[in-house]
Amino acid sequence: MDKSVFGSTKHAQETGGSSRIGSPVPGFPTTRLRRNRQADWTRRMVAENTLSTNDLIWPLFVCDGENVRTPVPSMPDVDRLSVDNAVAAAERAVSLGIPVVALFPYTDPDLRSEDGREGLNPDNLVCTASRAIKQAHPELGIMCDVALDPYTSHGHDGLLDGETILNDETIEVLIEQALIQVDAGCDIIGPSDMMDGRVGAIRTALDENGHLNTVLMAYTAKYASAFYGPFRDAVGSSTTLIGDKRTYQMNPANSDEALREAMLDIQEGADMIMVKPGMPYLDIVAKLKQAFGVPTFAYQVSGEYAMLMAAAQNGWLDGERVMIESMMAFKRAGADGVLTYFAPRIAEHLNRT
Ligand code: PBG
Repeated sequence: MDKSVFGSTKHAQETGGSSRIGSPVPGFPTTRLRRNRQADWTRRMVAENTLSTNDLIWPLFVCDGENVRTPVPSMPDVDRLSVDNAVAAAERAVSLGIPVVALFPYTDPDLRSEDGREGLNPDNLVCTASRAIKQAHPELGIMCDVALDPYTSHGHDGLLDGETILNDETIEVLIEQALIQVDAGCDIIGPSDMMDGRVGAIRTALDENGHLNTVLMAYTAKYASAFYGPFRDAVGSSTTLIGDKRTYQMNPANSDEALREAMLDIQEGADMIMVKPGMPYLDIVAKLKQAFGVPTFAYQVSGEYAMLMAAAQNGWLDGERVMIESMMAFKRAGADGVLTYFAPRIAEHLNRT
């Protein structure tokens, strides 16, 4: 047998294992993994993943009024912001080095309807906020959801026929919603509705209208999750939602199906794909990143944020450390970035350290 690159083949054989290049590797005591962990400088040298402000997408909730800041009780330190305050938050994002904000509306209940037509109003909250933010901070990326749930009286992402969420009819509306959002300054369209075929339909419509550079970040593997509860409080759909979203969002039991979703979204013209929720679905992030190698994002959703914040506020967890550790978990799984309500706090932490 060839001599190992590490010296004694016998020693290597005794201690087992083989390296990536196929040569046996020595075990303990020749190998002591703690050597590389002994000091901050060694740990930094061998760190396999790093976190930067470029990895962050900051979701903002927008509401009516002026100088309004309404706390969301189930999401400590997260407020619904009137457009002027959303512009101020955007300025904070720019100064912190966060590349993108994602906008979600709290729509006046009187404007919610069976068909969610407020979603097509070019002067709705999301469009108004997009225009104001783009004007004040053209260098900041703006992402907008495409789905009807903040606008429908029944809280579903699509049009209803009895108890059925209509797929193809909904897509026609989503196309219009995407187009008015792009007209208002939105850079990234995020279809979060989980209708079949919506990514391709939106891509075609964008192209036909000359929006060749609009980025599509598909909510590719979006699961029917109970972790969205606090978000629905924030956008006011937890009280309106009738039933659940299991006929369009994915079953948490499935992972092969996420590969099929991703394949279709990429074929249909998605520039980036996303997995949601985040931490409970890191296996899906890793699987999609490995399979397709396209920009892959994770959404650390409202319920994940609420859990960490609640434990931190009770003194049960070190909030700052679990926040950063959770981001590292996403990076390790292969995420190119994370939508997270912790974004400004993470950026502050990174800018400090
Ligand atoms: C709407 C949408 C939801 C979230 C983002 N876009 C909720 C849902 O599908 O019910 C959840 C985000 C979060 O929980 O932080 N389609």
